Amino acid sequence: MRALIYLLPLLLALSQALADSKLNLRDMIPSDERIRSHGYPAEAHRVVTDDGYVLKLFRIPYSHKLGNQNARRPPVLLQHGLFSNSDCWLSSGPDNSLAYLLADAGYDVWLGNARGNIYSRANEQISLNHPRFWHFDWHEIGTIDIAAMIDYILEETQHEQLHYAGHSQGTTVYLVLLSERPEYNAKIKSGHLLAPCAFFAHGRSAVFGLLGPLVGTPGGIWNQLLVDTELIPYNNLVNRLADNGCGSGSPYESICKNGFLMFANGGYENINLTSMQLLIKTHPGGSSSNQGIHYLQLSTSHEFRQYDWGTKKNRDLYGQDLPPDYDLSKITAKTHSYSSQNDALCGPEDVDTLVAEFTHLAEDHRVPLESFNHLDFIVAKNMKELVNDLIVDRINGYEAR
Ligand SMILES: *[C@@H]1O[C@H](CO)[C@@H](O)[C@H](O)[C@H]1NC(C)=O
Repeated sequence: MRALIYLLPLLLALSQALADSKLNLRDMIPSDERIRSHGYPAEAHRVVTDDGYVLKLFRIPYSHKLGNQNARRPPVLLQHGLFSNSDCWLSSGPDNSLAYLLADAGYDVWLGNARGNIYSRANEQISLNHPRFWHFDWHEIGTIDIAAMIDYILEETQHEQLHYAGHSQGTTVYLVLLSERPEYNAKIKSGHLLAPCAFFAHGRSAVFGLLGPLVGTPGGIWNQLLVDTELIPYNNLVNRLADNGCGSGSPYESICKNGFLMFANGGYENINLTSMQLLIKTHPGGSSSNQGIHYLQLSTSHEFRQYDWGTKKNRDLYGQDLPPDYDLSKITAKTHSYSSQNDALCGPEDVDTLVAEFTHLAEDHRVPLESFNHLDFIVAKNMKELVNDLIVDRINGYEAR
């Protein structure tokens, strides 16, 4: 921990120096522009939640290759992971990324953005600079944001149901929504969980060992300092650091691959570096510290349960000393899980626990390549064959019924 504290100012100074010599590195292309640049039609939609957050949804309504704008096009919602945003479904381009593959298979593709990320940084009642803006967690993203997105899409498309696919935190919020508000099960035609994350008893990532003991239990000083703040904001400093370290031709390319991915990854054999470099332009995407703290709490408690505020506040909020568990037996929507052996965050043993608790799970698919890791679901060269083709195939199966 000491090392980190000394390292941080050094890193900041380094990034500042680099920034001074090379201004305006970041030429951010928003999701809708990126989609259009590949020839597809794109739309941006604004969804306001009950508690005032303004969420941006991007949409590929049809495929220009099919010219299917007047045909029946079942809606699919894709939801990104922690620190991420809708760009994660696009960065490997039309031949590989799930959003395009689904559009080309005849679907109406919607890309969600959770509260707090670069596309959803507004609230009609609360200023972005007020700590209350950051007083949320993936519990609210699941129970409020995803619910609002689903209702909006079904209303807009006049469909009764949609297909859902999420990566990492995008799977957590699905589990949270369907267990806490089980009436939403009826709105899901099928669900696809990429690198599903619910239990964290066995994570190999350095992040658990390093930060778990500090913030994983409620009431500690670190916990109080960090609660309700923005975690790794998307700003010029952080972004320049990532971009300078990881941009193409950067002398730090290998340090970047090892360092930047250290937390999430075990190796980078499958990575598409071009795709990764595109992603870095709009990442990290902004999130509340509570999201990270909540995950670390799970790594300490080994339970999949709500945010732990400490005994006193838990009693007020939940009427019990410990936070209540998410009841996975309430999830009845047809759900497919796609996980991998080399996932250092949400690894095979934790997936075993999830599968055991998830009584109605339709499929437990394990990617048959040992090196495949957590981020590979988003940036691997071989993710089309190993994962995305399967998802399109499963969804086609539900539509053919
Ligand atoms: C790698 O990413 C680039 C950039 O999006 C894309 O053009 C290319 O098709 C990708 N290759 C594979 C094999 O995923």
